[in-house]
Amino acid sequence: MIRYLLTLAAVAILSTVLTACDRSEPVGAAGESAVTTDPGAVAPEPLEPPPAAQPSVSPAAASVDARRLQQADKEPGNWMSHGRTYSEQRFSPLAQINDGNVASLGLAWSYDLETQRGIEATSIVVDGVMYTTSSWSIVHALDARTGEHLWTFDPEVAQEKLKHTCCGPVNRGVAVWKGQVFVGALDGRLFALDAASGKVNWQVATFDPALPYTITGAPRVVKGKVLIGNGGAEFGVRGYLSAYNVKDGGLAWRFYTVPGDPALGFENDAMKMAAATWNGEWWKLGGGGGTVWDSMAYDPKLDLLYFGVGNGTPWNQEIRSPGGGDNLFLSSIVAVRPDTGEYVWHYQTTPGESWDYTATQSIILADLKLAGTTRKVLMQAPKNGFFYVLDRQTGELISADNYINITWATHVDMATGRPVEVSGARYQDTPFTIFPSYLGGHNWHPMSFSPDTGLVYIPVLDIPAVYGQPETFRYNPGVANTGTDGISGGLPDDQAERDAIGALVKGRLLAWNPVAQKEAWRVEYRGPWNGGTLATAGNLVLQGTADGKFVAYRADSGEALWNFTTQTGVVAPPVTYEIDGEQYISVNVGWGGAFALVFGEYVQAESLPNVSRVLTFKLGGKAGLPPVEWQPAVVFNPPELKASPETIKQGLTTYQDVCMGCHGLNAVSGLIVPDLRGSAYLWDEKGWEDVVRGGLLKERGMASFADNISAVEAQAIRSYVIQQAWRGKALREQAGAGKDVPAG
Ligand code: HEC
Repeated sequence: MIRYLLTLAAVAILSTVLTACDRSEPVGAAGESAVTTDPGAVAPEPLEPPPAAQPSVSPAAASVDARRLQQADKEPGNWMSHGRTYSEQRFSPLAQINDGNVASLGLAWSYDLETQRGIEATSIVVDGVMYTTSSWSIVHALDARTGEHLWTFDPEVAQEKLKHTCCGPVNRGVAVWKGQVFVGALDGRLFALDAASGKVNWQVATFDPALPYTITGAPRVVKGKVLIGNGGAEFGVRGYLSAYNVKDGGLAWRFYTVPGDPALGFENDAMKMAAATWNGEWWKLGGGGGTVWDSMAYDPKLDLLYFGVGNGTPWNQEIRSPGGGDNLFLSSIVAVRPDTGEYVWHYQTTPGESWDYTATQSIILADLKLAGTTRKVLMQAPKNGFFYVLDRQTGELISADNYINITWATHVDMATGRPVEVSGARYQDTPFTIFPSYLGGHNWHPMSFSPDTGLVYIPVLDIPAVYGQPETFRYNPGVANTGTDGISGGLPDDQAERDAIGALVKGRLLAWNPVAQKEAWRVEYRGPWNGGTLATAGNLVLQGTADGKFVAYRADSGEALWNFTTQTGVVAPPVTYEIDGEQYISVNVGWGGAFALVFGEYVQAESLPNVSRVLTFKLGGKAGLPPVEWQPAVVFNPPELKASPETIKQGLTTYQDVCMGCHGLNAVSGLIVPDLRGSAYLWDEKGWEDVVRGGLLKERGMASFADNISAVEAQAIRSYVIQQAWRGKALREQAGAGKDVPAG
């Protein structure tokens, strides 16, 4: 019965702050005790001389360098890089706010991000200034103490580019380095901004914007190079990670994650090795995929840069690489030299990946005591459902165990390091249902690690998916090409069956012991797609939720200690910092991302509407939020349904292949993008054509699909949506007149 789901499935830096942070003394001066459990915090031989004694004038904004980043634990008041330190633990040594007093945490200030699209950014905070991003890659610099606006930079991405996104115009944040702020725009431009003014110092195109690549991830800076990857794997691209010189944006190196057409030769030996693991003509189906769309970490002592690689294009390996093969470096963690991009090692989590099981999830470096010896490890909980502990010097697998119930594989064979798949988990027996779904057991929402408790805090997704071999496959440039059957991957007509599936769509906060590879505690939520996590030395774990709460838990036990109503679903991770001896905790709120768009049927009413803001808390904070008005948006008023069953089926197939990623599975929208069942265009054949193929609303994110579907197919979709509007109307009438059904 569970045949559902899928196809996608100034410096205004305030002088007070500056005096407080006068850095004429080298950071981490005598007397400070460093937390040494963070491998990103090794006391390195200085890579560059300590800053010369400065006159007591304002130091430049965002003057972060290798030395400060590597010793980030000596200035826990700042949050200077994406995961706070190069080890990306998202653990803060700050403990002023703790399990004893968090009950008096209150809102200090809020800042309106003025968008209705998803907010995923980790804020960076340096010397009293917060740099954060909104949707559409817009950067805001704020006074981190008051929320006062300093500057905004809008790269003015053409909204048509939305067509190449799986998950909305989201952005996960900036990187800073020596007075510059770096942001990757959705359309591929990498910008270096003056941290004091937000003015553009340089910009560079990291790809041709006509190609279906996007950037949603946060850059990192290592040794004077800005590192940035891209997204778009199911659309048909060839993934890579690029390194640009911070000074002028010159390309220092580029590492491709999958081989190109062998006839054109290989960029390096790593690509030659990878090509031996592919079959068929993958380069003609968009390029293989393998985008580096999120995670990175750096070990300064080993001088290794780690990054996670995404899924294949199309997902279905039988189409992508007929006859199999591991398809390196899909779904792998890769270690390279940051100076040159030279390959050092890789570990592939899902050989021959076929289900969108990316390995782009958070990478955390830590030193763990295992069997009596301290090992330098790398940890990841990728989409495939296994929690991996690797030796980060060699890539050797130390341990792996499943952190959710999974049905595609039984275990990871320690001798080979490979998952042992169950029969029937590939496309020969089709359709088939497996856990986890293409959204993974864990998606991009960052996990954190507390060296105090020894636990990893994972925002877990527990969702099944149905995958099916499509009757036919045609590579359709510029739109999602999953190579799966959209009908069997969709929702059943029967509402009782839909509700039964809904009961399986779950999410939780999981505290995982990486040494024992077992659960320590869990908090079950009403649904999936909750926010990233932050762990602190105050024995706290903080997380926002899909149902509009920001919650503090005891890190050792999971006891809920405090919460705040955020008025919107939260997906972004919190950060913490300190100014003038006062600790702040800040989180960006605003519902969005893949689940929010695709799974309209199962979005909780409390997730909506999207109200995008930065919310910053301190002990005794007394600020409030203005009330939010929200009316369920779908008004069913469909015209008469005249089309034949064949036409409607054609419409359903094309809808699931091309429209579902934004307008929702089976035409039930998550309401961030219009629910087509309530569209007035259902009455207007020509207007529908003008929007869908004519690009009438392209400036508002609804691009033309004229290159992808015919006029006949577009009208078949309209017929299917009319049918679904009648279905929605009948259900609502059944449920009782006047009862609100927010998401369908
Ligand atoms: C990449 C995301 C995306 C995809 C894919 C997409 N749309 Fe849209 N669509 C949008 C957005 C965003 C809007 C809202 C534009 C606005 O604000 O006016 C929209 C609006 C529309 C509207 C107007 C609704 C109204 O009443 O105002 C129609 C009709 C529509 N889309 C049809 C389709 C069809 C049919 C497909 C598949 C062939 C499709 N869309 C695929 C993003 C998308």
